[in-house]
Amino acid sequence: MSGLELREVAKHYRSGSELVRAVDGVSLTLSGGELVGLYGPSGSGKTTLLLLAAGLMAPDSGTVLFDSRDIGKMGNRERARYRLGEVGFVTQSFHLMPRASALDNALIKLPAAGLTLQQARARTTGWLERVGLGARIDHPVERLSMGERQRVAIARALVNEPRLLLADEPTGNLDSLRTREILALLRDICHERDVPGLLVTHDPEALAFVDRVHTLRDGRLTDGLHAELSTATP
Ligand SMILES: Nc1ncnc2c1ncn2[C@@H]1O[C@H](COP(=O)(O)OP(=O)(O)O)[C@@H](O)[C@H]1O
Ligand SMILES: [Mg+2]
Repeated sequence: MSGLELREVAKHYRSGSELVRAVDGVSLTLSGGELVGLYGPSGSGKTTLLLLAAGLMAPDSGTVLFDSRDIGKMGNRERARYRLGEVGFVTQSFHLMPRASALDNALIKLPAAGLTLQQARARTTGWLERVGLGARIDHPVERLSMGERQRVAIARALVNEPRLLLADEPTGNLDSLRTREILALLRDICHERDVPGLLVTHDPEALAFVDRVHTLRDGRLTDGLHAELSTATP
């Protein structure tokens, strides 16, 4: 199938003598064009699940497939190509270079895509305009607001035109107006580009923007709260 598929995926951490079942047998399927919300409290395994989907971490058991390709069976080069070329990952902390411009921050991944600098600049400018930063392209990031910085980070995640969008609490640092704008933007990008997206959040209000919701608790998808939240979602 096309899209992302997790089959009985588990990842456990050892913390001293304790075994933390961060992700504990999760099965989940995401198709092109849908933004799926993954809702859960802090410590429920959300970030771990995203790292597994991004190919940044290998599961202890289970399978992660993208477009029917088993990420765990890829060689190092193929997995690097997946991470850099196919996944767009929006993280909670942006890790931007403060003195560099919005443009330079957003295009940092593009040399890997084999574009000339001119092509990279043109493409990145287009994405900065798309996220509403057309007037801020040459501004150093340290002079941008939090909401604008998050948009730079989103543009950076999108310049490689990813085929899977992963977002880890992308609005954790934003006020509610900016939060709604960013979530609407992520949803529209998934819909327009027919790309599957996974939005991780512990904010119930964010769920109004997703197409469906799963709830994660202690590393497991639960159904009771899921049904409750789905009916609450407009
Ligand atoms: N590198 C690690 N080593 C040990 N335990 C970890 C590590 N990373 C996360 N954990 C634990 O795994 C659980 C899930 O963490 P995480 O995936 O970050 O959850 P969330 O993103 O929902 O807050 C938590 O109990 C956390 O403390
Ligand atoms: Mg997290």
